[in-house]
Amino acid sequence: MALIQWEEKYSVNVIELDKEHKRLLEMLNELHSAMKLGKSRELVEKLVNEAVDYCDKHLDHEEDLMKRCNYSGLSEHLKQHEIFRQKVTGFKLSLKKNNYTLSVGLISFFKDWFINHICTEDKKYSTNINNCKYS
Ligand SMILES: [Fe+2]
Ligand SMILES: [Fe+2]
Repeated sequence: MALIQWEEKYSVNVIELDKEHKRLLEMLNELHSAMKLGKSRELVEKLVNEAVDYCDKHLDHEEDLMKRCNYSGLSEHLKQHEIFRQKVTGFKLSLKKNNYTLSVGLISFFKDWFINHICTEDKKYSTNINNCKYS
């Protein structure tokens, strides 16, 4: 069973960003099942790196859109992204130093962050981005 399923309540009402959020979920599910099935450390590490890189690009994309649309909540949102980036960098470093079990912590951190961040911070930009000519 998948770790987390996409639900309509996660929609931020911006098609391209919903698409990225959905892809991120898929990647988390792939990572979760690879770990559950006891796949190789190399594969898990590869999936972690891919998910983190994809997430990084997604955050950049959101930040770019929010800047171009003069979103008033930008600085608070940037802070949240920064905290996430720092935390994930820490996880990646520990993983490199052989701490395989940390991937479990990374998955649950990622999942909780995903739900909380999308449902609170990301949803706030919805109207602004939809009314903006750059979106
Ligand atoms: Fe997002
Ligand atoms: Fe965000």
